[in-house]
Amino acid sequence: MRVSFCCTGTTAQPWLDGLRAALPGAVVEVWSAGAAAADHAIVWAPPQQFFDEQTGLKAIFNIGAGVDALMKLRLPPEVPVVRLDDAGMSVQMAEYVCHAVIRHFREFDGYESDMARGEWSYRKPRLHADFPVGVMGLGVLGARVSRALAQFDFPVLGWSRSAKSIPGVQCFSGEAGFNDFLAATRIVVCLLPLTAETEGILRHDTLSRLQPGGYVINVARGRHLVDDDLIALLDSGHLAGAMLDVFRTEPLPEDHPFWKHPKIAVTPHTSARTLREESIAQIAAKIRALQNGTPVSTLAGVVDPKKGY
Ligand code: NAP
Ligand code: GLV
Repeated sequence: MRVSFCCTGTTAQPWLDGLRAALPGAVVEVWSAGAAAADHAIVWAPPQQFFDEQTGLKAIFNIGAGVDALMKLRLPPEVPVVRLDDAGMSVQMAEYVCHAVIRHFREFDGYESDMARGEWSYRKPRLHADFPVGVMGLGVLGARVSRALAQFDFPVLGWSRSAKSIPGVQCFSGEAGFNDFLAATRIVVCLLPLTAETEGILRHDTLSRLQPGGYVINVARGRHLVDDDLIALLDSGHLAGAMLDVFRTEPLPEDHPFWKHPKIAVTPHTSARTLREESIAQIAAKIRALQNGTPVSTLAGVVDPKKGY
């Protein structure tokens, strides 16, 4: 069995070492133009040439949760794309989002500014009931984040394409549930995949339906958010702030207004990182399962090309 590794921006050697150890007997190589045909591909942001040349693939493994960049390429038809299914990301995402929500709710940003000025001043305690958190996307990451938020007594709402039932979370679904979800939400968290349907979903008309004093946490993809609409709603006072981990252009350009906006906190696409060991163990187990005849449809994380995630 031959495995081709083609991951832009990733240091290959530790992955090759780990994959070779997890798949004894397999030939695991970094792809280069003209390489021999492989059975399995392990990819992150590969060039189109990779798929144009690798025509004998049985499965494509993406070393991230989001497949938006991959799904834009011409992929070999009928070859399953398998994304990371948690692999240590959901706990990281829960940490990040709980931090962002609590930082805003407890006004820690304000206390940091006070501290910088040497000022000892209290803010009035706020009520959890006044800060309902709405999570857009209740998949692997969104479900974990919702459960973690509920532990802190925030009212938690969730919105997904298909109906869900998560203890402690008021679930809404589809177009029909979107309005009610937004109207009942003050802090919105985006954990949707980027697809034709979800691109630009955080825009003026949707964000203005949040409760007054709304707060936006985008940890999914930069293209979910219309940047100018966020700034307009922050400047008008309808929104109180935003914490953003993902951007239309990454790294965030030096002159982008988000850097200096007093109501926006930014982090460099780091809310849930790919963890190498967990990812290798997950991908190797799936390759072994396929080799042993397990039907691909039974594997977790298989992308539905019609839905795009
Ligand atoms: P997932 O398990 O596929 O979950 C996606 C969720 O979004 C599902 O609940 C799905 O609904 C819902 N959804 C999709 N399209 C929708 C639509 N049009 N309307 C309403 N709901 C819709 O994905 P995941 O593993 O949780 O990851 C989510 C995203 O997080 C990834 O795609 C990636 O972009 C992002 N991410 C970011 C980072 C980071 O570091 N910033 C790290 C990892 C992932 P159904 O359940 O009904 O299908
Ligand atoms: C990171 O953004 C991922 O999709 O895994």
